Amino acid sequence: MAKKIVSIVGARPQFVKAAVVSAALVEAGLSERLVHTGQHYDANMSDVFFQTLGLPVPAHHLGIGGGMHGEMTGRQLIAIERCLVDERPDVVLVFGDTNSTLAGALAASKLHLPVAHVEAGLRSFNRKMPEEVNRILTDRISDVLFTPSTVATGHLLREGVAPEQIVQVGDVMYDAALRFSQVAASDGTPGLAAGGVLVTVHRAENTDDGEKLAKIATALGTLSRERPVLFPVHPRTRARIEQLGLADRFEAVEMVAPLGYVEMLAVLQRASLVITDSGGVQKEAYFMQVPCITLREETEWVETIEMGWNQLVPSLDPAEIVAQAKAATRPSSSTEQPYGDGRAAAKIAEYLARM
Ligand code: UD1
Repeated sequence: MAKKIVSIVGARPQFVKAAVVSAALVEAGLSERLVHTGQHYDANMSDVFFQTLGLPVPAHHLGIGGGMHGEMTGRQLIAIERCLVDERPDVVLVFGDTNSTLAGALAASKLHLPVAHVEAGLRSFNRKMPEEVNRILTDRISDVLFTPSTVATGHLLREGVAPEQIVQVGDVMYDAALRFSQVAASDGTPGLAAGGVLVTVHRAENTDDGEKLAKIATALGTLSRERPVLFPVHPRTRARIEQLGLADRFEAVEMVAPLGYVEMLAVLQRASLVITDSGGVQKEAYFMQVPCITLREETEWVETIEMGWNQLVPSLDPAEIVAQAKAATRPSSSTEQPYGDGRAAAKIAEYLARM
């Protein structure tokens, strides 16, 4: 009988990662059942990814999103445990660093089911980020750690993870970008005038603190006087902008609903600059060879900084953001590829088939 994998997803970036892995699992002759926790539930945060990326229909949809972190993670833990008891998989696959990742890994580990973590070993070294805590704990209880890069592998080795548990496969997000950018190139989706700026902002540390969000709004508003700026707004951010009455500060910034993945790639292909606090978008900018400004104090994706494609603006000072945006250029050498060869998902599937 084919080996059975249960994959746990719930938030937007996980749908992208799971899509390429799901396709590879089928190719390797494995059977997969998908559990969707419901962490992201708006149509443009969830359904659109299932419709366009070829993900299997979830076998279980738990409908657990919103609420405080402890509550969300706890409710997911209870519900995932029940699914795993029913499904009795050979391996449980979790992705990235969200509350759904931690709940999935913990439920599986308590049932003594082998856990494999895709995108293991990332660290920001900032434990105030919920994602950092989720990563550290998930890595600690995972049996197999699929890392995206040499830097990530190094973090795990330094933390004392046994080398035989670590499998450096490359970044599944790179696989996804290669696979879907072909579709994006032929897709006539609306978007950004060539040379414009693509913005995303959703991190808790930037949206919860009204002063930080106000600085970001001022910077983007100023930029919008000179260049087209497109800002697909995450629901968390939209709610805060309304609460704080910041909409006017964005001036001519075009604020739209969150985009689907293929639409994002299409916009990236036309953008001359990305401004973001997302982990995934920093790398997607690099994959599409677009310079990036990151509105955070640190990044997990240090390679993008070292190669000159990405720059942190920890102060969030509007004048500095605008100055960096004006000065941003593509670095001359761009041949390095620290995130693998675009076959990360296939390597994951091949490894799981052999396990
Ligand atoms: C989560 C992940 C983050 C990931 C991001 C991608 C955690 C701790 N964080 O952050 O790592 O980069 O997803 O988007 O798991 N909401 C809606 N509609 C939705 C989804 C969320 O209105 O479809 C609301 C929620 O009710 C909540 C807020 O937006 O009030 C934030 O959602 P949440 O899932 O807590 O975190 P994200 O910021 O999306």
